[in-house]
Amino acid sequence: KYVLWNGKILDQDDKEVSVSYEDRGYQFGDGVYEVIRIYQGAIHLLDWHLDRLFYSMKEIDIVPPFTREQLIEQLRDVIKANQFQADGKLYIQVTRGEQPRDHLYEPNLQAVYYAIVTPFEKPVDMWENGVTVMLQEDIRWLRCDIKSLNLLPNVMARTTAQKNGYDEPLFYRDGIVRECGASNFFLVKDQALVTHPTDHHILGGITRKQVIRLAKELGIPVYEREIDLNELEKAHECFLTATPLEIVPITQIDEKKMNGGAFGPITKKLFRYYQEKIP
Ligand code: PDD
Repeated sequence: KYVLWNGKILDQDDKEVSVSYEDRGYQFGDGVYEVIRIYQGAIHLLDWHLDRLFYSMKEIDIVPPFTREQLIEQLRDVIKANQFQADGKLYIQVTRGEQPRDHLYEPNLQAVYYAIVTPFEKPVDMWENGVTVMLQEDIRWLRCDIKSLNLLPNVMARTTAQKNGYDEPLFYRDGIVRECGASNFFLVKDQALVTHPTDHHILGGITRKQVIRLAKELGIPVYEREIDLNELEKAHECFLTATPLEIVPITQIDEKKMNGGAFGPITKKLFRYYQEKIP
């Protein structure tokens, strides 16, 4: 198996493929990442993912170790090197670089990055059965728009959900529903979609963006506004969106069962159209 390692395509067992203990990503979580879908060897919605990766780097002041064109070429190269033609995921991570441990970072550090390709089968089980979510207070920071490596609150929330018999956490803050642990949240109300606006409280999901685009093409109205916790009581359908999972119906929020434990009609329509639009 080959990996993209700081601009080179290397065998994963190559000696060069190793992280320094002084890497700021390792010590501080000082870095950002992307998860991108590959369908039949082709990278999906790459432009939007690159926009977000460059945005994340800019927001935390990492000097990109590549140009956009270089990275695109290198990502294609790593897929080619692995002769990867199946469905999978691309994981890209950029950390600020190496230096003796100090909260303050040195200027002009050489950022460290890698990308790997892993096979990923369509999550048919989740599509058939949906997922259950557990409401949890959002204890994350106030820059959730940055796709940062610091995922400890998400990890803890997912664990809490699982321990309580749920699949995923659903975060709320100040009485407003924000997003799930690793996905965005949508609600269907009066035949329209409602989802949190893109601000510092959520990650601006690429799947979210695609779903909004496709809903508009289908003539389904979309409202990007805050969802009050009380509104969950009256919701007809709910679903989550994320790169690996695409669109997954939510069948239960805390004790409340949703939509008879299956895809609601609007969710189903969107799901089908989403599939159609995968080249
Ligand atoms: N997570 N919100 C959060 C907090 C996320 O971590 C993710 C994605 C999303 C959905 O974004 P997108 O549609 O661009 O995948 C929303 C990735 C998949 C992860 O951490 O593995």
